[in-house]
Amino acid sequence: MLDFHSHLIPGVDDGSKDLSMSMGMLDMWKEQGVSHICATPHFYADMNNPSRFIEKRNAAYASLIDEISRTPDPDSYPSISLGAEVYYFRGMSSCEDISRLCLQGTRFILVEMPFHPWSDYMIKEVSELSSAGLIPVAAHIERYMKIQSRAKMNAFLDTGIMIQCNASFFLDPRTRRKAMRMIADKTIDFIGSDAHNLDTRAPNMGPAIAAITRKLGDDALAHIRHNGRLITEPVPAAFSGGAA
Ligand SMILES: [Fe+2]
Repeated sequence: MLDFHSHLIPGVDDGSKDLSMSMGMLDMWKEQGVSHICATPHFYADMNNPSRFIEKRNAAYASLIDEISRTPDPDSYPSISLGAEVYYFRGMSSCEDISRLCLQGTRFILVEMPFHPWSDYMIKEVSELSSAGLIPVAAHIERYMKIQSRAKMNAFLDTGIMIQCNASFFLDPRTRRKAMRMIADKTIDFIGSDAHNLDTRAPNMGPAIAAITRKLGDDALAHIRHNGRLITEPVPAAFSGGAA
């Protein structure tokens, strides 16, 4: 099982605050049967640049890998792909370094949209990420449903953007019916815990997957699993038309 969205890397954003917390979170993922985690720290273009962000993220990741290697059974932990949760910014589709924020080994880029009504320009900008050769994925779509008009949300979905929702969407009694409908009709392409810590926003993929299987059966997860393999088994560049 893949967790597409998390704040596991210690000390780089408002997620895990130190190595001990990250290791505790990894233990939770392991217990829940998660085999692969996308580590997606927040990236804000007005406060950071890709080079500085990547340098800091990778150094913290290296210390986490070192910590895992000191445990009695390092191979029992989920594997990790590095990425970012990129907050929308004007000009992002033409930003020279934007592809460096894609999920490791892929063209997927996790985009966090603003939490206020979107302009047509914003939607166009996100769709232009695809024209730039990237595959944008909208983070936690359920958090925008009450903010955006139906027309705006439809225009956004019509760009062909891929959709991630949080595991909590399936667990909250107020939203789970809608969540089940959206996974049944394949509107949702990825699920992520968006885990930040060990308690208030802890890893919760296991309970969400169990709830989906109970309600809709295992087949309902086929689309999610297929997309997950695009992350864990990326197509080599030679087969995807990229330069050798
Ligand atoms: Fe997040």
